[in-house]
Amino acid sequence: MINFCIALLGAKTMTDAFEEIVGKDHSPSILSLLGRKKAGAIEDYCFIGSAFPPPEGLVKDFCKQSPYLFGHYPSENYSVRKKFSKAFGIPFNQIVAGNGSTELITLLGRLFIKKVTIPVPTFSEYELTVRNNGKKINHYQLDKENEFGFDRENFVKSVKKSGSNSVLVINPNNPTATLVEKEDLQFLLEELSKLDLFLLDESFIDFAAKEPPTFVKVLKKYSNLAIVKSLGKVYCNPGLRLGFMASANEEIIEKIAGSIPEWSVNSFAEFFIDRLPDYQDYFSRKRLEIIRNRKKFVEQLSEVEDIRVFDSKASFVFAEILKDFDSVYLEKELLKKGFYIRACRNKTGVSRKFFRVAIKEAKKNEKLVEAIRSVCKNR
Ligand SMILES: Cc1ncc(COP(=O)(O)O)c(C=O)c1O
Repeated sequence: MINFCIALLGAKTMTDAFEEIVGKDHSPSILSLLGRKKAGAIEDYCFIGSAFPPPEGLVKDFCKQSPYLFGHYPSENYSVRKKFSKAFGIPFNQIVAGNGSTELITLLGRLFIKKVTIPVPTFSEYELTVRNNGKKINHYQLDKENEFGFDRENFVKSVKKSGSNSVLVINPNNPTATLVEKEDLQFLLEELSKLDLFLLDESFIDFAAKEPPTFVKVLKKYSNLAIVKSLGKVYCNPGLRLGFMASANEEIIEKIAGSIPEWSVNSFAEFFIDRLPDYQDYFSRKRLEIIRNRKKFVEQLSEVEDIRVFDSKASFVFAEILKDFDSVYLEKELLKKGFYIRACRNKTGVSRKFFRVAIKEAKKNEKLVEAIRSVCKNR
């Protein structure tokens, strides 16, 4: 397998691919890195929406329906919104469906943000969309010595001092996998109720606990709250491009809904939402499996000398290399062994010593840990 992967990648191909992406904000997908033919040979630990395969029955449904889906338009946005409302139990006038949550993040950045406080390190798309739209950012550095946890009083002080009109909290955060507890989030929402927008990203909330501590159920209490959720994580379908935004603030909902191009959610993605009720149990079981596997994975990775692992409340683990090489080296060496991880080569708020890996099935995780151990040992 290892030799196969080395041959498959080839030193030149790999170097070229990485040369191309240096300086860009996101890591390339396996597909753009290796092409369609070779992509399947690599275990993808970089993208955190590929931890388990879709249920067989659903794949069959898709195969049967695909000629129709290819040849027909999806429903208009209004009808798709209705389907989302039903599927996620959120009133129609409080939800907007998007072509992945990135579409909604981009619109929120363009329409509501003037200056935003962003805790870092975090998911780069927020910073990118704010920058691209000429808006301002106040970076709030999460403290490594505090395990990247939130100091709520300090955070509120920083937001107020910066003159931000909006704030972002990703819960649990990507890439640190840290969770802001319910009481702390309530504190922040109350203290920052005068802002134009309190943006809460709950893309990974289903992995935080058996009973996810979502704020979707208390939207009405907070008039400036908008919750964004990518459906690519808990349903492991990032290629379909599905996400939603929920808010009890009519102005936010209407402006975003009115700015989304018609037929934004494509027919395959719409079909997924149609079929979801029959497969919720499967996805729920898989989510709980990830939560169960997490503890062991963190323990095993912590046993590797020269790696510091941070506690995780998400579907991935964040770690730091303590030896004299960085995560870009680790990423390249692991690719040769058939694993693709997320090196923090260009993340605001952390050095290149940090990396992120998805949590998968226990046996696969063990293999990754072994590969990381071997790279550390042989360097
Ligand atoms: C916190 C967070 N929000 C949103 C997204 C984007 O998700 P989508 O694929 O739905 O655009 C990501 C992607 O990794 C993410 O980490």
